[in-house]
Amino acid sequence: MKTVLVTGAAHRLGACIATLFAQSGWRVLCHYDRSQDAAQALVGHLRAAGHAAQAVQGSLQDEAGCQALMAQVQTQTDRLDALVNNASTFIDDTGLDFNSAQALQQLRVNLLAPLLLTRQMARDLVPDGAQGCALHILDQKVYNLNPDYFSYTVSKLALERAVALQAQSLAPRLRVCGVAPGLMYLSGPQTADNFRQAASANLMRRPTDPQDVARACLFLASTASITGTVLSVDNGQHLVPLPRDIMFVVDDLLKGLSP
Ligand SMILES: NC(=O)c1ccc[n+]([C@@H]2O[C@H](COP(=O)([O-])OP(=O)(O)OC[C@H]3O[C@@H](n4cnc5c(N)ncnc54)[C@H](OP(=O)(O)O)[C@@H]3O)[C@@H](O)[C@H]2O)c1
Repeated sequence: MKTVLVTGAAHRLGACIATLFAQSGWRVLCHYDRSQDAAQALVGHLRAAGHAAQAVQGSLQDEAGCQALMAQVQTQTDRLDALVNNASTFIDDTGLDFNSAQALQQLRVNLLAPLLLTRQMARDLVPDGAQGCALHILDQKVYNLNPDYFSYTVSKLALERAVALQAQSLAPRLRVCGVAPGLMYLSGPQTADNFRQAASANLMRRPTDPQDVARACLFLASTASITGTVLSVDNGQHLVPLPRDIMFVVDDLLKGLSP
């Protein structure tokens, strides 16, 4: 049975990815940081359905946390076939008001942690002669720049560039790919009204289905010839340029409509 570690697996996209891998016959290690109850509930639900799942806890805020998480993983398995770097922070700032502490926090969790976990996987969790796959969850924003969520975007841009670099560095032990989703879930200060409109501002006029993102992850993890590439799963959102993050554009529209 193949084993996958999914970071930030307690809720939303991470839970969806963990569930699809489990339903497809993989053993899933569901990472969480603060969401212990939700992670345990997910694992309980997967096990009750006959799947193999364990919860692993850890902060991805620094290298020690990443190492501790991988040490915990090694108590569960001596081999990882796939790693999905999904956990992230999403802090609202701009190029004019970002502060170093928050920018560093985002760079640590969104960029350094995926690189460190992937490095650790290549070093310790892919046996000689085997090949694994690491996936970085990106954002359609990396192909559709606007200045909102400035340091978040910087972190995801660097991670997008690192896909090819890591694929070159870690081959043939690891394949490294990315998945760039469009808007799937209500985030930050968004209202339900705002989300409803914003999530359909793409070529297909509907929110990105998290199941499609999970299916893309499973496809990449299962397709041995693909490395160093990124799949956009965003209903074409990256082809609809906007001057600001879609949630703010929609806010202005909604304000214009109110009496
Ligand atoms: N939401 C969207 O519509 C959207 C759109 C495009 C791209 N994406 C990308 O898709 C991925 C998932 O998005 P999402 O909205 O489902 O994520 P999310 O709910 O905002 O966060 C996922 C998890 O990240 C974990 N996390 C945050 N900081 C952490 C830290 N310091 N250490 C360890 N874990 C930490 C949290 O785990 P705990 O709760 O256990 O603490 C959290 O549940 C992200 O990479 C995001 O950038 C999302």
